Amino acid sequence: MIRLEHIVKTFPAAPDRTAFTALHGVDLAVQTGEIFGIIGRSGAGKSTLIRTLNLLERPTAGRVVIDGEDITDLDGAPLRRVRQRIGMVFQHFNLLSARTVYENVRLPLRITGEYTALQMRERVDQMLALVGLADQRDKYPGQLSGGQRQRVGIARALANRPRLLLCDEATSALDPETTQSILQLLRRINRELGLTIVLITHGMDVIRAVCHRVAILDQGRIVEEGEVEHIFRAPQHAVTRALLDPMGIHFGTPAPLGEAS
Ligand SMILES: Nc1ncnc2c1ncn2[C@@H]1O[C@H](COP(=O)(O)OP(=O)(O)O)[C@@H](O)[C@H]1O
Ligand SMILES: [Mg+2]
Repeated sequence: MIRLEHIVKTFPAAPDRTAFTALHGVDLAVQTGEIFGIIGRSGAGKSTLIRTLNLLERPTAGRVVIDGEDITDLDGAPLRRVRQRIGMVFQHFNLLSARTVYENVRLPLRITGEYTALQMRERVDQMLALVGLADQRDKYPGQLSGGQRQRVGIARALANRPRLLLCDEATSALDPETTQSILQLLRRINRELGLTIVLITHGMDVIRAVCHRVAILDQGRIVEEGEVEHIFRAPQHAVTRALLDPMGIHFGTPAPLGEAS
């Protein structure tokens, strides 16, 4: 469904810094209906990579292909149409604090100008029910918990019936328990709506909880990729092993053959 072909991203030099290449030729294929995780340390290029999928970052070289269509050079109305089909959820929710929950979720529908007031109302109520916030519709973001705010962010991202949902560290600002409930919600959305999800995180626990496949990104390169189960069982790259370490999964040098265990 989505193919990144040899994506290079170089941020040009500015008065206060030299040019920096954040992505060094990334190839990636995400299948329809899967939850694909991208994990890496801070600064690995994860956000830059996920933002190339909806062209919030324009690749310096390479192609972004969605459903066989090369979208790399789209602009104007065609680009807006592609973006409407891609929802995005952020670490810090990015809600409008002076708007109610209802108004925040309605916003993307208004922007398209394609819906009547009644259609918007029905759609927003449907989305709020989906994320379990029907009774919070008239509250303001400041009156909600972090988990509830992220549910609003998810409802907003889904309002336009996207086919692809991008999550950039969507649970990184949440406590472990709330993280689990948001991850459960993402899994349910993936199952029930058949929505493809690309999810970025720096936590292997998040990958294990929801992803089907995972790519490990390090210094702008994918160093390892595969089925989550397989990666957890037999990580090959040092960076993957280091990411597994905080979970208490250690892959040191194997014990010599014949040693009692
Ligand atoms: N707009 C930008 N201009 C210059 N450098 C950037 C810009 N955005 C990101 N970078 C650099 O690219 C690298 C990767 O950043 P990012 O994709 O945000 O990493 P991650 O999300 O994995 O933490 C970092 O070194 C960051 O400083
Ligand atoms: Mg990031």
